Amino acid sequence: MKSGLLRLLLLATAFTLGAAPRLSATDDSPTQRLLMDSGWRFHLGNDWGAGYGLAKAGTGYGPAGISYSDASWRQVDLPHDWAIELPFDQTADGSHGFRAVGEGFPQNSIGWYRKTFELPASDSGKRIWIEFDGVYRDSTVIVNGWFVGHHESGYSGFRYDITDLVNCGGRNVVSVKVDATQAEGWFYEGAGIYRHVWLVKKESLSVAPDGVFVYTRFKDNVPKGAAELHAETKLLNALPSSVDTTVTWKVISPDGDTVAVLSQQATIAGSTTAQLGQRGRIQSPQLWSPENPRLYTLVTTVLTGGKTVDSVTTSFGIRTVGFDANRGFMLNGEPYQLKGTSNHQDSAGVGSALPDAIQYYRVSRLKEMGCNAYRTTHNPPTPELLDACDKLGMLVMDENRQLGSDEHHEELLEELVERDRNHPSVAIWSIGNEEFEVERTITGQRVASTMQAFLKRIDPTRPVTCNADLGNNWTGVDAAVEVRGWSYHVGQAMDDYHRDHPLQPNVGSEQGSTVSTRGIYANDPVRGYVSAYDDNAPAWAQTAETWVSFFGTRPWLSGGFVWTGFDYRGEPTPYGWPCINSHFGIMDTCGFPKDNFYYYQSQWTDKPMVHILPHWNWAGREGQDMDVRTQSNAEEVELSLNGRSLGRKPMQRFSEIKWTVPYEAGVLHARAYSAGRLVAEANVETTGAPSAVRLSPDRAVINADGQDVALVTVLIADSKGRVVPTAGNKVSFQIEGPGKIIGVGNGDPSSHEPDTLVSIPMFRTVAIDGWRWKRVKDVNPENMPEEGVAFDDSSWDPTDVSGDLGSLGLNERAVYRTRFTVSASDLDSAAVEIVFGKVAGGTAMYVNGQKIGGSIDARSAMAYDVKALLHAGENVIAVPTANYGPEGSGLSRGVSLRLQQAPAPLSWSRSAFNGLAQVIVQASREPGSIKVVATADGLDAGSIVIKSQPAVARPSVP
Ligand code: GAL
Repeated sequence: MKSGLLRLLLLATAFTLGAAPRLSATDDSPTQRLLMDSGWRFHLGNDWGAGYGLAKAGTGYGPAGISYSDASWRQVDLPHDWAIELPFDQTADGSHGFRAVGEGFPQNSIGWYRKTFELPASDSGKRIWIEFDGVYRDSTVIVNGWFVGHHESGYSGFRYDITDLVNCGGRNVVSVKVDATQAEGWFYEGAGIYRHVWLVKKESLSVAPDGVFVYTRFKDNVPKGAAELHAETKLLNALPSSVDTTVTWKVISPDGDTVAVLSQQATIAGSTTAQLGQRGRIQSPQLWSPENPRLYTLVTTVLTGGKTVDSVTTSFGIRTVGFDANRGFMLNGEPYQLKGTSNHQDSAGVGSALPDAIQYYRVSRLKEMGCNAYRTTHNPPTPELLDACDKLGMLVMDENRQLGSDEHHEELLEELVERDRNHPSVAIWSIGNEEFEVERTITGQRVASTMQAFLKRIDPTRPVTCNADLGNNWTGVDAAVEVRGWSYHVGQAMDDYHRDHPLQPNVGSEQGSTVSTRGIYANDPVRGYVSAYDDNAPAWAQTAETWVSFFGTRPWLSGGFVWTGFDYRGEPTPYGWPCINSHFGIMDTCGFPKDNFYYYQSQWTDKPMVHILPHWNWAGREGQDMDVRTQSNAEEVELSLNGRSLGRKPMQRFSEIKWTVPYEAGVLHARAYSAGRLVAEANVETTGAPSAVRLSPDRAVINADGQDVALVTVLIADSKGRVVPTAGNKVSFQIEGPGKIIGVGNGDPSSHEPDTLVSIPMFRTVAIDGWRWKRVKDVNPENMPEEGVAFDDSSWDPTDVSGDLGSLGLNERAVYRTRFTVSASDLDSAAVEIVFGKVAGGTAMYVNGQKIGGSIDARSAMAYDVKALLHAGENVIAVPTANYGPEGSGLSRGVSLRLQQAPAPLSWSRSAFNGLAQVIVQASREPGSIKVVATADGLDAGSIVIKSQPAVARPSVP
């Protein structure tokens, strides 16, 4: 553990710990929290060695340097995952989804990002932080050439105080080197800055990062009467002197009424943090629940000298959570069955870089199924997922990445808990998952105990579990954690454990899981498909019906979290190549339901429903017996084929009804009855051949904020508009208007089609020759006539700078010059750069009399953006150099002009998989109509218009 003093100093100087605060500034606050997602440049590869200098401060070179040109790098907006852009490779790690990244692919495993931005002079005197919500992984951040920090974990947020390093009233450059070589998990993890980045500007006295904690308590943890309000705030005084302050906390109800106001005065010593807090009451609280996600707002205002210096809003909810050893999970004082799913964070088309709207889409799809809980396997989620769960109503088991009680792991746990503890959705902490080697050992037990105790100090309000792959076992983590987490092991072991440890509550933290492929009804190991009947589960797991029926009669198990809600890349169980993604999902990677979606809906929802499987396109199987099943939450189902009743059967609890139906093309029709009344109906029809492409967006109106997306479902329909459930037509997409396609998918676990396309810049390179040089006595890089345009160098000796070694000997000094011609059309190129192969020795570079680079650039090939400095006609380069090192310094390895050509237009396409595909359309910041046209050979084209409405974009760094 860090000592308290050391911690305070660290907080006061460089906020390298802690994650992004889930705080937003109020309008009247001097604090600004700016989204820093747009206008980044990206380069895959590490052509510069370390890329930054640690020997001397502020000596970042290559892409870590301020003057380096990234004009030819790809432009990217965050979030960005470069792994999803890479090809599949059978030799790559299958558990990570066979992408050509990670071990064995060094050329694809390190990437560089750069962002150039201006700060107004008026920011001088403010504290400036840069916050990263998540970078996968092993990132190094350099600001204006200064190394500011290194962060390994790909799943935790981190921040740096860059106040001293930024140029207020000038240009700033942030460079981020990301190394995804080392895997952290055993599933697809992506690569790059795949979550948001923020630039935060604060006054010297402010709310510390993640400094607000608001929660409520009720007697006996049962919400009756008024809620006891706890508002706590950690203040940070970055000034050397003490400051008198008043902090006020105002609570606004879901209806907009102010329902509590608290305040406290304090004197905060210089260069330190201080914890303030008050208790109050909220009368007649409106409770938060998945069914009714009512949100309160806490406004924390920091005043000094009568002036507001910081004001932040924190969204929270009032509810109680807990576990009872016999009644299971308790929400708001009542037993509440967890109808949960475990999920990884990737989605079709975008990999792990999800625009926020996709979080809302995924949570909404789960809710449609009746799901009320989400486990963030096996890592802290992006904050926007929790926002979606708060707002839409979804309980969360928030999972830490790895067991560990040393200082490093405690810091990660602290980041997670301090960041997420205000979210009402977060109901349970999970300190880890299936730590096979240690979970049954006494060491594992000690580590889990320490973690739990540490966690409870930061958040005394939530229960703690650990997903343990253990049976009736009491050594290790199970003996340490408050709530026993069950990873599989359905059966006698659970009953025995409950009998032996009757006081410990239980939760099915990881259960299921059926392996299945959407729209497939027979196992096909060659193509890598598993039937969508609820029939197949790995040896360690159970089908949906098996675990649901076991848990359904044991309320003390609390319900559970199915492995998984959505398919994810990697872990292609039960197969390997050519499968590249899992079959565990109740939905595929696009969020399209497999049949088990309806099984869970039948178990988890009350709104009458009935579903029939399989599809009814079985030409060639006429007369053969088909395995037909119906899933329903009604009491009985009657099935008929082409109008002939096949009988009416009762639903068995926790089950589905099986029918044997000789195949005959036509219509299967199901009628569901409860109390003798028809309550729901469903049809499955034999369709005709594919005839047209249809498009259907999840939202027809999106926000013109440069971030919002519509998820467009592509359907292959027959002439009557029915989706052809076996269609695999290849569909091409064109887009017009203020939007772009960012990814495509189809849920096929064996598809090797690209998820996304990138514009790779193309270049024309022209050698710059005709160099002359002259040895000189001294070199003053700032002020020599030889650096000027007009200088006459005609008497100097010609020299060839293309060799590996330069012509300068030890302790020699010289100036190199050349003239070169560019045309007006050259200057129309998207980027115009001068690239020096190598300039060794103390040096400076001048173009048309203007200095473009200096000696710290000498270590590697350097590119400079000279578009603004060149003119059509003759231009001059001058390079004064001084060699204090070995022979062979000076200019070498050639100098060239690099002209970026317009990239080839992108041709988007994706095959339908069993009738469906998905296109993700992102709005620009310009409102208007975005038209998407989908064409497929021999089919009628489909098109839709998505309205991109004027929207207030989040304040951002241009
Ligand atoms: C579990 C594990 C998951 C996933 C799953 C596959 O043991 O926690 O991450 O690997 O198995 O069945």
